[in-house]
Amino acid sequence: LKSIPDITKSWFGWREFLGLQRDLLSTYEAWQHGWGDAVQLRFLGQRHIVLYAPQAVGEVLKHADFVRYPRMMRVLRQVMGDSVSSAEGAHWQERRRLLAPAFRVQHVQSYAQSVERIVEEAFGDPEINLRVVPAMTELTLRVICGAVLDLQPGNDISWVGVALQSLGKAAMVELFLPAPLPDWLPIPFVRRKRRAIRQIQDFVADLTQRGGRHFLARLEGLSPLQVRDETLNLILAGHETTAAGLSWALYLLATHPQVAQRVAVEGLGYCERVVKETLRLYPPAPALFLRQAQQELRVDNYEIPRGSIVHLPAWAVHRDSRYFEDPLKFNPDRFAPEAVKQRPEFSYFPFGGGPRICLGQSFALLEMSVILTVLLRKYHIETLDVGASPLCQVRFSLWPGWPLELKLRRRENLVQGLDEQLQRL
Ligand code: HEM
Repeated sequence: LKSIPDITKSWFGWREFLGLQRDLLSTYEAWQHGWGDAVQLRFLGQRHIVLYAPQAVGEVLKHADFVRYPRMMRVLRQVMGDSVSSAEGAHWQERRRLLAPAFRVQHVQSYAQSVERIVEEAFGDPEINLRVVPAMTELTLRVICGAVLDLQPGNDISWVGVALQSLGKAAMVELFLPAPLPDWLPIPFVRRKRRAIRQIQDFVADLTQRGGRHFLARLEGLSPLQVRDETLNLILAGHETTAAGLSWALYLLATHPQVAQRVAVEGLGYCERVVKETLRLYPPAPALFLRQAQQELRVDNYEIPRGSIVHLPAWAVHRDSRYFEDPLKFNPDRFAPEAVKQRPEFSYFPFGGGPRICLGQSFALLEMSVILTVLLRKYHIETLDVGASPLCQVRFSLWPGWPLELKLRRRENLVQGLDEQLQRL
């Protein structure tokens, strides 16, 4: 049996835990550099264990007796009620079975055609000054609503992205507080959060009443409230991570023009490698990998006491030089099929793994690849104003922490469109 060093030094673990709240990514990395592949700390009597070895990551994600961190479920449930993302046990199984067919290969391919149309419509001007984060948020909202859920969200939806992001920020604060904040507390933080939740719920209730027959037919048998929450969940899970991933991809493509040129020439196949490499360096959902042990369990020869919260830090594992040579380098060819086979399973897990693996994984990969390929075939990325080392901000999803702006200028010789490649999928 391997032992897990206890790194709690401060009073009741406050300092160590606040480190996570303040800077999740660097704190995980620093602990690994200091202590190795497993560390534990005790915060107000609650044991937290961070596991970095791919073997351990895989075992935890696949094990039925590790459930999702209850505090996180509470935070998610405030927004999206009882949906596939926040349910456990038989209830989760039933919802997952209801939704999974919508993400089968043949459907995903048909969504891709609509994604192409939506991007073409959104990007027509010869020259665009792109504020990347809001633009990608609005684009992915339109894609999840229009291409997948068959809903028509109207012209002005930029406020939805802003409201959802403020909820993400609030969720991150609550996730790492010592105790949950009751809803009746008369403080601005709680009031703002409640207002944003109400606005989003009304927006989605209105959308589902006006359209979406095609997709909503899958949810037959659920009450109107359940339909609203399940739809809200898909809108939330289906746009924010993708928007964050796309923002990082555009940043990386702007700083690596030779890679951008290859995407324009080679198309979807190569672009998928670019997307995967982006999700390695900037995994969009780094706070989702928290689990609680329902009983005493053994994982990769570590003993995990009952009730412990286990953290699986994708960010640190993805940047471990044992699995990724020269890990900070952006190199999409790491995801050529022969290269992938050389690495241990679960050295890369932006979508999780095991039974709760992201339901939209194959759609997300195709969606992002289509969006980037369409953009890069049409436009050169011209200017970019960024500092030397990019700033990360975890607001539930992992976002660029500065106002990333790009200039897109239409190519003189447009590279041929995607139709043919989409037909061949
Ligand atoms: C780059 C884009 C995306 C990333 C990085 C991502 C990542 C994740 C992760 C890490 C999880 C949780 C896995 C776990 O707890 O072990 C998850 C769950 C989920 N994702 Fe995604 N996701 C993305 C896009 C999407 C899209 C486009 C959709 C839907 C259209 C979607 C729908 C879901 C759903 C429904 C769940 C809950 C599954 C369950 O609990 O059974 N995601 N995703």
